[in-house]
Amino acid sequence: MTSGAGGGDRTDYSSYLLIDDLLRLQRPLTEGADDEMLFIVVHQAYELWFKLLLHELELARDRLLEGACWLATPRLRRAVAIDELLLGQLKVLETMSPEGFLAFRDPLAPASGFQSVQFREIELLSGGGGPPTGGPHAAGEAADRLARRRGEPTLWEATLGSLAAHDLLARTAGPGEPAGLRQAVAAIYESHDDPVRAHFHELFELLVDHDEALARWRHHHMMMAAREIGRRPGTGGSPGVAYLEQTVPQRFYPVLWEIRSDLG
Ligand code: HEM
Repeated sequence: MTSGAGGGDRTDYSSYLLIDDLLRLQRPLTEGADDEMLFIVVHQAYELWFKLLLHELELARDRLLEGACWLATPRLRRAVAIDELLLGQLKVLETMSPEGFLAFRDPLAPASGFQSVQFREIELLSGGGGPPTGGPHAAGEAADRLARRRGEPTLWEATLGSLAAHDLLARTAGPGEPAGLRQAVAAIYESHDDPVRAHFHELFELLVDHDEALARWRHHHMMMAAREIGRRPGTGGSPGVAYLEQTVPQRFYPVLWEIRSDLG
């Protein structure tokens, strides 16, 4: 990655991507713990992909709000591809056996993915509830970022607004599920021969892909925690796997799952 031959200010690979800075950011706490580098790199890679995921979800939401719903689907397709990649990364971390983790676990407490602000932003932007009350984001910059997210329209709200703009759903003001939503969604599944309805059908299926991928991540992450720490409490202060089990049934778009029973 260089500018043309003879160019003045050259931008090479390392300076464009700030590789030297990036590679200085992995600092294990425990000497001789061979698996700590794996743990740090996987978590940092997650945060980078979270950053891109938020970017794509925001763009999808904004295109819907602007009335350019056909520009939202490519963004969502990319978001789902990132979701799948995030699932795959758990396999890399699972190559660590429990005694390998114990060799460096205590000094890193109370650090935990529980404290990932970007993960909570993804939940809120997608249309989910965000962090549990009284969790680690109760104050400071994290709380401000999450409050900002709570004040923004979610991807789901933008989808409903777009449906209403196409007269496929009654317009309603205020929070709560719009009247007739389930019937309106089911009607699109039952008939989507014209371009607008076909577009919403594709959009709904991409939202289900995103929801399903996050649910599969929650399940796989819970299983991974079980094999790494058994019944120990989490470093973030929760009861550990028993807490994670409760998070698995969460869905961003319950209506999109429920209407499947209505079809036919
Ligand atoms: C050895 C690997 C891991 C173990 C044993 C583990 C374990 C746990 C446990 C026990 C919790 C519950 C909160 C607490 O700490 O008390 C938790 C939460 C969480 N972890 Fe992990 N984790 C691991 C890797 C990861 C990775 C790589 C990520 C990616 C960012 C991650 C993201 C999260 C998130 C987002 C939560 C909050 C889930 C929720 O509240 O819905 N974890 N983890």
